[in-house]
Amino acid sequence: MTKVVIALLGGIAATAGTGAAAQELNLICSADVVICERLVQEFEGSHEIDVNMVRLSSGEAYAKVRAEGRNPQTDLWWGGTGDPHLQAAADGLTSEYESPMLAELQPWAVAQAETSGYRTVGVYSGALGWGYNTEIFERRGLTPPACWADLLDPELAGEIQLADPNSSGTAYTAIATLVQLMGEDEAFAYFKGLNANVSQYTKSGSAPVKAAARAEAGLGIVFMHDAVAQAEEGFPIAVVAPCEGTGYEIGSMSMIEGAQNPDEATVFYDWVLSAEVQSIMPEAGSFQIPSNKAAKAPEAAPDLADITLIDYDFAEYGSAERRSELLARWGAEIGGVAAQ
Ligand code: F6P
Repeated sequence: MTKVVIALLGGIAATAGTGAAAQELNLICSADVVICERLVQEFEGSHEIDVNMVRLSSGEAYAKVRAEGRNPQTDLWWGGTGDPHLQAAADGLTSEYESPMLAELQPWAVAQAETSGYRTVGVYSGALGWGYNTEIFERRGLTPPACWADLLDPELAGEIQLADPNSSGTAYTAIATLVQLMGEDEAFAYFKGLNANVSQYTKSGSAPVKAAARAEAGLGIVFMHDAVAQAEEGFPIAVVAPCEGTGYEIGSMSMIEGAQNPDEATVFYDWVLSAEVQSIMPEAGSFQIPSNKAAKAPEAAPDLADITLIDYDFAEYGSAERRSELLARWGAEIGGVAAQ
């Protein structure tokens, strides 16, 4: 994209040759660091804007945006599960923006924008499941679990990793999913049972299946696309969609209210919603379903049409009250200590 386009999209002048201060964008990226770095590289390569990017898990990103409050150091938050983006929207921490790119997006991505009063938008989606190490399971004579219920089997003691929902949007999606599948008390009883089989609660959502890939755990509860990423890298990981049905994320993007660089944030926002940019994701090992209708979905991406999905209530589980309440209950009743 040329500097002229930058000027048109962002309503700002390109700086090359003008002697003006360099344009900057302060970005939080809540997806995998490889795709975060690739997006920054592509953006800087085609724009006269320097990006200061920090990679944070979804819950950590929300906490940072909230802590910055009325003195925001962040301009734009790209990626991460939609629930904390919706909570930030409800808190008034993110700003309203109706991108001209909305017309190119999948209905679920636009629905996310509508739910938030246009303070966030869907950038990708993917379903929750798990990946297990086939070599470990074979060697130890373990039965591969097909259903959520199977994960409670005592033979899986110490084999499972899951992230901590305070830092990780993936783990929060797991709580919200099971609450919607089973009812709240049953879901918390389930997590207490599961706790007996969990060896570690990680900080980042995809870490559990990375550990399984490297034989540091038998199984990681993660978004299925993160398990696919490990299998595509050649690790012995099999990917499972739970038989009872499962939840999914609408990975989202939000502009920060009172951002210091709103024009630069707008340029990135519109750019990253384009089909061209979203089609890059598989090259960086990201196998979510892109939100632009014309973007090429990665061949290895789990097809949501083949998975039993729950009717995930994003408005309720992304609301400040519900998210805070479920995290508090998880802390009080399960309270795993996050590692790495
Ligand atoms: O990039 C991988 C990914 O699973 C995204 O699809 C998701 O939005 C994000 O990571 C969640 O990360 P975390 O659980 O660490 O917040």
